[in-house]
Amino acid sequence: MSPSMAALVSRLPVWLCVSGTFTTLAPLQSAASDLPEFDVADATCEAKAESLMMLQSRAHNTVATMRRKSLWLTDLHADLYYLSDVRQCVKKNVSTLRHFPFGVMGCDPPATLLSETLRRATSMQLDRGADFALYTGDFSRHNMGKLENPYKNVSATIGKVSLIFDKHLPNISKVVGTLGNDDTPIGYFQNITTDRTTNRWFVTCGEELQNAHCMTKESRKEYDYGSYFEVRMGNYSILNIATVMYSVFHKPPNTSGSDPFHQFAWLRRKLTEAARDKRKVWIAGHIPPGIETFGYTELWEPSYLREYLNIVQDEVMGSVIAAQFFGHVHKDEIRILPNPPPGAGPIFLSLSLSPVYYNNPAFKTVTWHENGEVVDFDTFYAQMSNGSSMHYELGYSFRSLYALKKLSMESFVPFAQELLQGTEQWISYAKWYTATYPNDLNSFATNASDPPSVQKQKALRRQQYVCGVTIQSMESFEDCVESARLSIYKSVQDDLGAKAPLAPLVKAVPKTLDVKKHMIIARLLRWAELSERPEAFDILRLAEQHHWMELLQRYGPAVERSWEEGISLDDFFQR
Ligand SMILES: *[C@@H]1O[C@H](CO)[C@@H](O)[C@H](O)[C@H]1NC(C)=O
Ligand SMILES: *[C@@H]1O[C@H](CO)[C@@H](O)[C@H](O)[C@H]1NC(C)=O
Ligand SMILES: *[C@@H]1O[C@H](CO)[C@@H](O)[C@H](O)[C@H]1NC(C)=O
Ligand SMILES: *[C@@H]1O[C@H](CO)[C@@H](O)[C@H](O)[C@H]1NC(C)=O
Ligand SMILES: *[C@@H]1O[C@H](CO)[C@@H](O)[C@H](O)[C@H]1NC(C)=O
Ligand SMILES: *[C@@H]1O[C@H](CO)[C@@H](O)[C@H](O)[C@H]1NC(C)=O
Ligand SMILES: *[C@@H]1O[C@H](CO)[C@@H](O)[C@H](O)[C@H]1NC(C)=O
Ligand SMILES: *[C@@H]1O[C@H](CO)[C@@H](O)[C@H](O)[C@H]1NC(C)=O
Repeated sequence: MSPSMAALVSRLPVWLCVSGTFTTLAPLQSAASDLPEFDVADATCEAKAESLMMLQSRAHNTVATMRRKSLWLTDLHADLYYLSDVRQCVKKNVSTLRHFPFGVMGCDPPATLLSETLRRATSMQLDRGADFALYTGDFSRHNMGKLENPYKNVSATIGKVSLIFDKHLPNISKVVGTLGNDDTPIGYFQNITTDRTTNRWFVTCGEELQNAHCMTKESRKEYDYGSYFEVRMGNYSILNIATVMYSVFHKPPNTSGSDPFHQFAWLRRKLTEAARDKRKVWIAGHIPPGIETFGYTELWEPSYLREYLNIVQDEVMGSVIAAQFFGHVHKDEIRILPNPPPGAGPIFLSLSLSPVYYNNPAFKTVTWHENGEVVDFDTFYAQMSNGSSMHYELGYSFRSLYALKKLSMESFVPFAQELLQGTEQWISYAKWYTATYPNDLNSFATNASDPPSVQKQKALRRQQYVCGVTIQSMESFEDCVESARLSIYKSVQDDLGAKAPLAPLVKAVPKTLDVKKHMIIARLLRWAELSERPEAFDILRLAEQHHWMELLQRYGPAVERSWEEGISLDDFFQR
């Protein structure tokens, strides 16, 4: 509690009506002058009580104003060509899509999904008193290669999405420039122009953003150079970092040196200044560091991950980071630092608006204390099943759902341990992972009537997920899963206990494959390495022989179908 807030609360009178007699316990003295005007002598006990209640509520509102609020949206993947031959949604024809003006499950949506989302958010008054709206990247649809002029069509998408933000949120700041891997004419492609003063693509995007009042002239200076930028608001600031260049899929391949666009140097400088001025900062970006939890592959090049961890885990620089926000994974998730510095804030990844990877569209409001500490967030979501209207409602509030006293990196560690048990916390977490759309994590909940072998298998799957939540290299992730396997399957006679140590097959999947194919193979391998089913042995055999195309042909459809249906691969093969 800040001193000012503590002072305000201590001034609240404590009062009682005891057998019709009005009694104040404390500390009415100092508050009396604030009492609404009324004749104390003539007032009934109830009237006095009522008037004090008004005072309390007024004080409460003042306390509430020390809290700040913002909106956080991510990964819209707008398809401006939704009803054309070059639409992203090849699985539906145009006459079907006409009935779904806001999008369909399994496809990227038209831009109207954002207008409708923001229209609902403002009608629920979620923008009232908000300091800003944060967007963490991927304005544009997938498969931009199909478009006539990807350079023009993707920048037009960024412009269009920015204009929608401006139209619906004219009176609040928009922190909207972070680029995702689809916000380039070729996915994951950015020219690394560290030695030049500007980058042509970033200038093009910056113009679109500035024309739509989503970026200031001041931010443009940083943005045009490296697409990262700081937004200062009073005593706190948001450091929007560029992450596409750190991706394992970044193209062109490494010609970039150890600090592309000198972003790490910039981050060090900004954090050191904030520490000196005793200010808090937030970090926002698109691709999170660490492991994704679809195929458990690494997201950043290991050398960049190490450098980032050196910065955010530093005692001085890391302690001023009140929170970190990332998009890209389309799911609702937490992340844990392996060695957090004292006072480190929480790290969140948020649900996408796009339902392309089988989650309902969702966004958040973030509440934080004026010193920058995140107090809580609320997740709003809408069922995508009925395409003709969107009914957004509050899904959950993080702290009350999980009964956490505080949102901090420190509180996430025991929370992750609770998830491992597979009971209430896991069940809620799995539900909101996809904003209630069915997913495989649901089926890994503990069930006392399962036979012991199934209980062990589920425990290991939960471990696999929780190992993925720690921001670490792929090797450390694999070590984490391996030691979980050894502790769950204690003897070599015990099912999986007899299996040889996991071979690092995922590392061998060529990065030159299309990213989606890469992810599907990884998902199959991560499933197979912990399974005793006959399909698992076949999958591992094909992978050992590097028969990637055959593997995809034979088992790719199982991944697609089980994903769409929201069931685990075990349940899929079981039928
Ligand atoms: C579009 O798809 C629907 C559902 O598969 C089908 O009933 C309809 O005939 C198709 N329309 C056209 C014009 O191909
Ligand atoms: C893409 O951009 C080009 C050039 O501005 C334009 O002619 C075309 O209509 C746009 N749309 C598609 C679907 O390619
Ligand atoms: C924005 O502010 C203007 C001027 O105060 C006001 O007229 C308008 O209604 C506001 N718009 C919204 C969407 O809050
Ligand atoms: C990258 O640089 C090449 C060569 O200058 C240029 O043709 C291309 O448009 C650039 N791409 C982007 C996304 O900036
Ligand atoms: C900003 O920091 C200064 C110095 O610590 C403090 O006096 C002031 O109240 C702070 N303002 C806000 C809005 O937090
Ligand atoms: C890229 O290459 C440079 C040397 O040119 C090297 O210093 C750097 O570590 C490499 N980065 C990655 C991510 O491999
Ligand atoms: C969507 O729901 C509305 C109201 O519940 C209903 O009238 C409409 O037919 C539904 N549309 C579809 C495509 O399911
Ligand atoms: C637990 O397992 C039993 C027996 O397979 C099943 O009937 C029951 O529905 C399961 N409970 C839950 C919550 O999944």
